[in-house]
Amino acid sequence: MTTDAQFIRGLPKAELHLHIEGSLEPELMFELARRNRITLPFASVEAVRAAYAFSNLQDFLDIYYQGAGVLMTEQDFHDLAVAYFRRVAADGCRHVELFFDPQTHTDRGLPFSVAIDGLLSGMAEAKDSLGVTSKLILCFLRHLDEDAAFATLKAADPYLSQLAAVGLDSSELGHPPSKFARVYQAARARGLKLVAHAGEEGPPEYVWEALDVLGVDRIDHGNRALEDPDLVTRLAGSAMTLTVCPLSNLKLCVVNDLKAHPLKRMLDLGLKATINSDDPAYFGGYLAENWIQTAAALNLGREDLVTLARNSFTGSFLTPAEIAPHLAAIDAYAVAN
Ligand code: HPA
Ligand code: ZN
Repeated sequence: MTTDAQFIRGLPKAELHLHIEGSLEPELMFELARRNRITLPFASVEAVRAAYAFSNLQDFLDIYYQGAGVLMTEQDFHDLAVAYFRRVAADGCRHVELFFDPQTHTDRGLPFSVAIDGLLSGMAEAKDSLGVTSKLILCFLRHLDEDAAFATLKAADPYLSQLAAVGLDSSELGHPPSKFARVYQAARARGLKLVAHAGEEGPPEYVWEALDVLGVDRIDHGNRALEDPDLVTRLAGSAMTLTVCPLSNLKLCVVNDLKAHPLKRMLDLGLKATINSDDPAYFGGYLAENWIQTAAALNLGREDLVTLARNSFTGSFLTPAEIAPHLAAIDAYAVAN
């Protein structure tokens, strides 16, 4: 019998909640700063890592947007994506649905095309060289207004066929999903899937709004849904995928201890939960590390792990024909290990 950590690393899995800007390691941050002649407010890689102590989401976002300021060229975004895919391929990850925040870059004066062209070329390289497939999700920054989101959706029009979905991220409290009802309606009319961060710091009402006002296909995080039994019934009954991020929750003080993390409770309630890394360079672990630490803290059994792996594919935006071989690979792996 393999150890749980070995079993987890080899288990075929997908990542459905990953902000590519959140995979910027301090080493690459320094390299890009040098390449682009940008002065960082940190003396060393160690000083950057030491600054990664957060007491809430906003604390993190302030430093995360600052870090993204070193990304200037298509090549930078390409390199960022390829570095992430190399790490996650070693974690047994076969498919990724990654977020990017175009407004973080266009607000700094970069043309819309720079980030997306660089990311798409990194994604193509990952498929060719690592066999990891991926889909791209455009996120609107919820602290900005509806007009800015509409302008971003319009800028994305030439890229529609290369986008899977739109999402909603950044500061949750005070920025309910309903603020973006019309933008989501327009995204749906363009044939895009819809996801939104909800219930990370925000109340259960924000999860209801994501479901009923935005009509999302997936909820990102969703932790606080557990405070509302009717919402749990709704999510379980509709097999709504929740993209849960345990190490992120720990670092942003959404939970105080991984042992108190609600993931096992979610599974036991019949919720379709998945494990994801969110912003792995900032939160101390890529995909497999999230699985390994969560499995140890919550005593997850092999059955739970297989369920989580299956959920990561059935909750993806791959077609049923694309999902089927991944499910078969999970089942074959579970039998052999
Ligand atoms: N929540 C909201 N916005 C984000 C996050 C998150 O966890 N990560 C990157 N942007
Ligand atoms: Zn997130």
